Amino acid sequence: MNADLRQEVMRRTQGAIFLNIAYIGVVNRLFDGLLTLGKASAVELAAHTGMDAAYVNRWCDSAYAFELLDEVETDRFAMTELGQMFLPDAPGSLMPFAVNAVLGAHMAERAAGLMPSGERPGEKVLAERKTVLPWFGPMLEGMFGSFLSNEIIPNVPAYQEVDARQGLAVDLGCGNGWYLRRLGQRLPNLRGIGLDGFDENINQASRLAAKEGIADRIGFRVGDIHHFAIDEAADLIAMNRALHHVWDQKENVFRIIKQHLKPEGVAIIWEPNWPNNRQLLREPGRRGMAFQNLSEHVQGNHFLQPAEIAAQFEQVGMQPEIYLFGEDREAVVVGRNKA
Ligand SMILES: C[S@@+](CC[C@H](N)C(=O)[O-])C[C@H]1O[C@@H](n2cnc3c(N)ncnc32)[C@H](O)[C@@H]1O
Repeated sequence: MNADLRQEVMRRTQGAIFLNIAYIGVVNRLFDGLLTLGKASAVELAAHTGMDAAYVNRWCDSAYAFELLDEVETDRFAMTELGQMFLPDAPGSLMPFAVNAVLGAHMAERAAGLMPSGERPGEKVLAERKTVLPWFGPMLEGMFGSFLSNEIIPNVPAYQEVDARQGLAVDLGCGNGWYLRRLGQRLPNLRGIGLDGFDENINQASRLAAKEGIADRIGFRVGDIHHFAIDEAADLIAMNRALHHVWDQKENVFRIIKQHLKPEGVAIIWEPNWPNNRQLLREPGRRGMAFQNLSEHVQGNHFLQPAEIAAQFEQVGMQPEIYLFGEDREAVVVGRNKA
């Protein structure tokens, strides 16, 4: 057996364990607790966070082993610089990596079990892990929030046009609403409606909009994209990483988009750019996407190429424009009514 390869795999294994330990610290607010307390014994940390002391004790040992914590006094711990980087609210937090690792493990286990039958249970698989679902939105916001603000909004002119009109934006499949909330913060006159199929997402989105002081303009509701209807025509209809979830009924989705847009309105669809060349999947920045497409398969979905999205805009008489970002890994396809 190749000893170097074996060493390399063992190194990677440690990386996976490290993220699993960090995940527990994130979702049970142990890092946040240590931020407040500064230093704490396992018993103190458990009391502060409302967790079981025996579990926290074992977690402290493992977080210490992986250098997320230091022992600063006998049996009392403080976060290392590395540990602090998993604080969910820290700028550039590493939290998304921890959540993604555990979600990935769940999806891998489901894919392995489903492969013999070919069954594809759909969206509900995401909600099977009780601790993961509330972190799904924050994970995506952590991964893409600054990217939207710094790369996409400044470089896609359609946003400035909608801002100038002070119009109504609709976000179909809004998750925890981070995209619409960011737009609402940036465009002070924008009104918005976000729609998602999961109650948990809508509760989180509404709570966060209230906390951010924009709930009077930006609202969220539970519903199915396929039955979406509003009385007022929209200036912007957005879908972020949501179109591939409903691609099997794309004709209906594009009909709904067209029908609910003002004549001068725009649709902005943001999706991962699935490469048409398999070799590109070997690039470090695209490997995760290859695995994610397997977990999408479990949910009944698959990733899309921007040309496929553009073709659907054409089908309903809309003019598509394709923008690529992030070394072409991200595609934004804008659709407008033809003059
Ligand atoms: C990958 S998530 C993206 C969420 C959000 N747009 C973001 O960028 O963070 C896809 C979202 O689409 C929602 N979704 C999928 N199918 C849906 C449907 N038929 N009706 C409403 N929401 C749906 C899911 O609940 C999920 O929140």
